[in-house]
Amino acid sequence: VALPLDLRRPRRVPVAWAAAWIVTLVVGPACERHEASVPAAVTLLVPASERPFWAPVTAAFEAAHPGTRVVLREGPNSTDLRENLYTAALLAEDDSLDLVYMDVTWTAKLAAAGWLVPLDERLPPEAASAFLPAAVEAGRVHGRLYRIPLRTDIGLLYYRRDLLEAAGLAPPRTAAELLEAARRLQAPPQLWGFVWQGSQYEGLVCFYLEVLRGHGGFWIDPRTLEVGLDRPEAAAALEFLLRCRREGVSPPGVTTYKEEESRRLFQDGRSVFLRNWAYVWGLSQREDSPVRGKVGVVPMVHGPGGESGATLGGWGLGISRFSRDPDLAAAFLLHAASLESQRALCRPTGFAPARLDAYRDPELLAANPFLAELARFQRHAVARPAIPRYALASDILQRRLSAALSGLEPPERALASAARETRRLLGGETR
Ligand code: GLC
Repeated sequence: VALPLDLRRPRRVPVAWAAAWIVTLVVGPACERHEASVPAAVTLLVPASERPFWAPVTAAFEAAHPGTRVVLREGPNSTDLRENLYTAALLAEDDSLDLVYMDVTWTAKLAAAGWLVPLDERLPPEAASAFLPAAVEAGRVHGRLYRIPLRTDIGLLYYRRDLLEAAGLAPPRTAAELLEAARRLQAPPQLWGFVWQGSQYEGLVCFYLEVLRGHGGFWIDPRTLEVGLDRPEAAAALEFLLRCRREGVSPPGVTTYKEEESRRLFQDGRSVFLRNWAYVWGLSQREDSPVRGKVGVVPMVHGPGGESGATLGGWGLGISRFSRDPDLAAAFLLHAASLESQRALCRPTGFAPARLDAYRDPELLAANPFLAELARFQRHAVARPAIPRYALASDILQRRLSAALSGLEPPERALASAARETRRLLGGETR
């Protein structure tokens, strides 16, 4: 990963700063006045695409806390790349990132490494009960709280209601029904059947995981650390993804798509089905969206006799152990988790909030009525295993799934290797 220069090495005092120190010592009072005017600052790294939505949140904080500044830094959009950035910075004990904007899967690793400040005192149980219980739980490691949730996420199957209705088709419930409907309605390359996240990254694991649940299988049992990737259910789930490609229902490029590539195709009216997260609903219903008023949402399809799975996602904030101002960082964190900030972040983006009261908020519901429906998808939720070496386990699965999808490895061999490597990895894992 190419790191920005200031993340690559631990802090050193640059020559200009050293000179400023000398001037301070010599000139004294004049510089003290200058020092006093330097605002206390905390820094937060967010995906570049989210910056415009964070700006009002930081501005409101600065207005309420005169003399403070929240510095927003932009990072890559993909969760894997941002996790690498944070890991490199924290490993170097870099004190230039105060807040850690964390995916639901990062907490165990960052907390086990001792890189996060416990937040139990900052968010006592009465305050924690204002948030979705599963979202709070995702921030706890061995009973201590390290991450406060800002938004939650769930994997969904979007479909073109207008096209299915015109053809007299009900929304699909099984994988076979989806393939059948896609084949009937598609007209590639103008209109594809089904787009999803097939690139080699975390999003592919999220999609596979819900299809796997739908075929009765599992990846890693978090209680026993048993691995289910070389079982027939795992092969059946991968076979569904392969059929989408083989039968021309998904475009050849699907193996390079992340969330936004697949959303754009669907929102441009170029796919009948889309697997994606909750944010897509709001964007697809904007006034300039070609599919406004034409979209339906159902849980992901499943295998014969199976039950749908919906991967749980979500984002929250923690405080770096190396922050020079953990109190200011905590004040900002609580501000970011307030209802007012949830409005600012969720209204324009379609993100699903983590606060319970946000789901009853007239302003948010008016902007995104779909929020009222999200609860019915929660019962299909599948959590990714909360293990410190999650990133490594995910990397194994990403590589093997990707090799099978691009035809570089036969699917049975890919899954057998993934199972073997995952067992070896988990051999050293302690619960
Ligand atoms: C979404 C989810 C996150 C997941 C990521 C995968 O951002 O909220 O939990 O890891 O997508 O791409």
